[in-house]
Amino acid sequence: MIKAVDLFAGCGGLSCGFQNAGIDVRAAFEYWEPAARVYAKNFDHPVFQIDLSDVDSAVKIVKPFLPDMIIGGPPCQDFSHAGKRIEADRAGLTGAFANIVKTVEPTYFVMENVDRAVGSKAYAFARTTFKEAGYGLTEIVLNASHCGVPQRRKRFFCIGVRGEKDDVMRPFLESKISEHETTLRDFFGDRLGFEYYYRHPRNYSRRGVFSIDEPAPTMRGVNRPVPKGYPGHPNDACSVDQGVRALTTRERSLIQTFPDDFQWDGSKTDMEQMIGNAVPVKLAEFVARAVVEYARNRER
Ligand SMILES: C[S@@+](CC[C@H](N)C(=O)[O-])C[C@H]1O[C@@H](n2cnc3c(N)ncnc32)[C@H](O)[C@@H]1O
Repeated sequence: MIKAVDLFAGCGGLSCGFQNAGIDVRAAFEYWEPAARVYAKNFDHPVFQIDLSDVDSAVKIVKPFLPDMIIGGPPCQDFSHAGKRIEADRAGLTGAFANIVKTVEPTYFVMENVDRAVGSKAYAFARTTFKEAGYGLTEIVLNASHCGVPQRRKRFFCIGVRGEKDDVMRPFLESKISEHETTLRDFFGDRLGFEYYYRHPRNYSRRGVFSIDEPAPTMRGVNRPVPKGYPGHPNDACSVDQGVRALTTRERSLIQTFPDDFQWDGSKTDMEQMIGNAVPVKLAEFVARAVVEYARNRER
């Protein structure tokens, strides 16, 4: 079994998907206490509340776990679509992830980020670090809705295999991508108990009302009720006056494909944030299954 550790683990979306695919996640690292607390409630292995920007200290705790694989999603605020579109100090944590990989030298690593990260200086630095450390890289943007998740969410994955050529993982991923997008009805049937819902748009040139017969839009870190002044939009799936409401925190976690029995805890604001931050569990599982399949093929 492949042994892994999860860096910048949040509440554990990535960990959960990797475990589902048969990866033995041994430890997680996350400095934000509310997320570390939720993580601890849902996994048997330890979560260390440390600042990963201190690479030397991080390596001292990560290395004894002898991971075959390091997974993680360094924070993306500074080059995310939702952010200020400037790279500030936070982007340095992508570099910290790369330096930890370079020092610990696992056989595999999987780094996740927003699709926008690809063109960033932080990623360019990380990429050089991975190449210097001898990793072959498969770099791919996946839309979760084509990977079994009822949500349009584009995420960038860089998967490294030590001592391998670039792109070895690509066929294992691309062969599984579905042409069909998963809708909420495909995934939940009629279990949600509604047909339409509101997702607050960034501005009113975009619609706010969605149907369960389409994938959900990206679950972000904030969740707002229908404001009194919502003007409506020609592309709304129905009129907002037909009793349409915003999703609950629990519904958002289900759309992020967390399991029904996942235990949430903390303030609503914090939970919404960690849900929006997470890699959808089924997207993580999709990537992990490709890595497991590759690893099995390689052993033969
Ligand atoms: C994009 S989220 C990770 C989501 C996670 N992969 C999941 O699937 O649930 C990034 C996480 O990095 C954490 N973080 C930010 N700066 C950190 C630091 N210096 N050290 C450790 N964790 C940090 C944030 O609190 C946040 O939970």
